[in-house]
Amino acid sequence: MTTTTPSHPVPAAAAGHPGTAATARGLTRVHGRGDAAVHALRGVDLDLPAGRFTAVMGPSGSGKSTLMHCLAGLDTPTSGIVEVAGRALAGMDDTALTLFRREHVGFVFQAFNLLPMLSAGQNIVLPLELAGRRLTGSVKERHDLVVDVLGLRDRLGHRPAELSGGQQQRVAIARALVTEPAIVFADEPTGNLDSAASAEVLGFLRRSVRELGQTVVMVTHELDAAAYADDVVVLADGAVRRHLVDPTADELVAALRGEQVR
Ligand SMILES: Nc1ncnc2c1ncn2[C@@H]1O[C@H](COP(=O)(O)OP(=O)(O)O)[C@@H](O)[C@H]1O
Ligand SMILES: [Mg+2]
Repeated sequence: MTTTTPSHPVPAAAAGHPGTAATARGLTRVHGRGDAAVHALRGVDLDLPAGRFTAVMGPSGSGKSTLMHCLAGLDTPTSGIVEVAGRALAGMDDTALTLFRREHVGFVFQAFNLLPMLSAGQNIVLPLELAGRRLTGSVKERHDLVVDVLGLRDRLGHRPAELSGGQQQRVAIARALVTEPAIVFADEPTGNLDSAASAEVLGFLRRSVRELGQTVVMVTHELDAAAYADDVVVLADGAVRRHLVDPTADELVAALRGEQVR
């Protein structure tokens, strides 16, 4: 058990596995075979701390999306171990993985992926409905908190087409947060947004970590976006080159250049 008192609440789903929301050991992922084989991940070892905002950076093709998908149970590694919320994903069949994701994992995509015929409010509660959870008691309290933290209270009746890009991505984040998952993965969540909307979305992601105790892991190739995170994982050629804890801007720039920090 941890003896330190966190400055923000630790998510209940992570409580059985103090300190770590997700773990990878010796993770490899090969796409295709023979001469066409692409080694997207070449042995990733990583511990993602709970209650932190971690950015994953690295050049295009370095394996960022593949890593996120393997950690989220959306892709199956070729070898190695993934644990999320203290549970090993290996050995779960498709049904078990689907149920596990529904309960423990949130995902935010670059393209928002909202259902256009549903209102913002209906999109947000969809994961609860799929899980058969009713919008009452603590579930309702969580829903209301998420909606307020993301500033969506007066937008719930709008359809996605009636919202700006930044608002749509905030709805997608609310949808990912509403089930109180152990970890939220966001793959280039500001990739389709202008700089003002990006800053807004990144600010809300950070608030979800600070105020809701959420664990967020975000792929980005933008230094400005990574600056919102607590920690930064730098990938290169399918492996973790650096895992920087609370880096200064100078340390981050140096690590991305491949230089020694300190
Ligand atoms: N489904 C796939 N089939 C074949 N190659 C893939 C597939 N997905 C990714 N790759 C390859 O794996 C490598 C890592 O890709 P990706 O994880 O998308 O990197 P990143 O997100 O860092 O740009 C790249 O060389 C990419 O072309
Ligand atoms: Mg990618």
